[in-house]
Amino acid sequence: RGMEELRPSRFREYIGQSKVKENLKIFIEAALKRGESLDHVLLYGPPGLGKTTLAHIIASEMGVNIRTTSGPAIERPGDLAALLTSLEPRDVLFIDEIHRLSRTSEEVLYSAMEDSCLDIVIGKGPGARSMRLALTPFTLIGATTRAGQLTSPLRDRFGVINRLEFYTQEELVEIVTRTAVILDVGLTDEGAEEIAKRSRGTPRIANRLLKRVRDYAQVWENGGIDLALASQALNLLEVDHLGLDNIDKKVLQTIVTSFNGGPVGLDTLAATVGEEAETIEDVVEPFLLQKGFIQRTPRGRTVTDLALRHLGLSLFEPE
Ligand code: ADE
Repeated sequence: RGMEELRPSRFREYIGQSKVKENLKIFIEAALKRGESLDHVLLYGPPGLGKTTLAHIIASEMGVNIRTTSGPAIERPGDLAALLTSLEPRDVLFIDEIHRLSRTSEEVLYSAMEDSCLDIVIGKGPGARSMRLALTPFTLIGATTRAGQLTSPLRDRFGVINRLEFYTQEELVEIVTRTAVILDVGLTDEGAEEIAKRSRGTPRIANRLLKRVRDYAQVWENGGIDLALASQALNLLEVDHLGLDNIDKKVLQTIVTSFNGGPVGLDTLAATVGEEAETIEDVVEPFLLQKGFIQRTPRGRTVTDLALRHLGLSLFEPE
């Protein structure tokens, strides 16, 4: 089974993000009452928090089709024009990683979002003419790990802008408990809590860890998952008690050992760790910041006392 079937398809099955959910429900109900398309929606936040899932739910609740693509998949403005002209009334067009759309493709979106039309240029040179093509009303749902990377003309054209937050432990317990039922694997409350605690506040990670722990359960006991089994399996998976994985730990350790706790600039840090700066900024840092393990200062990243204690490390102090 893939992740697809684990995904909730309606709001009533979707756990967490209650503010985003309650607002969207109102906007959807209002749009349905008016018989109009939903205004364009921007969803942003760290990966794995349910942006794609929400886009699918929005389309289901609106009773329309969803077409999905991503910023890097759209190579030319024509690719986007082809998608836009193939939509049925009030359909959802979902663009993942919308911050990676090229400038020329982005410009196609401006008139599409604002006036439901395409400005196309026919021919080249002095004889070139421009034409307006009317589009059917649609809803653009854009997803990005960083709203700050969007140009303001694009960002300003979204009527609804929602930030997704990390999930609480209780919410993650509910999510893995629901997934365990779908996967037909026994999971005790304590087992669920242990997986939830170590999932970096992220449903995608929680569900992935559940599947891996289930593998251990199947081989070791041919049975279900309780606290002892979850804990043992997660240790083997090198996920620590707070959910820090190898790359989280490597980033923290590098700041401590190579830069004596920081501050260190993002690019220097990325080069030393051997990861892309974008991965560190979008995937690793948000959780470490939320946990209070690192701080961002104007001169770079520093580790906190909390991180030092967690790692069992200390800084070199000159006399
Ligand atoms: N699976 C992944 N994310 C979920 C969510 N937010 N609610 C329910 N199930 C999920």
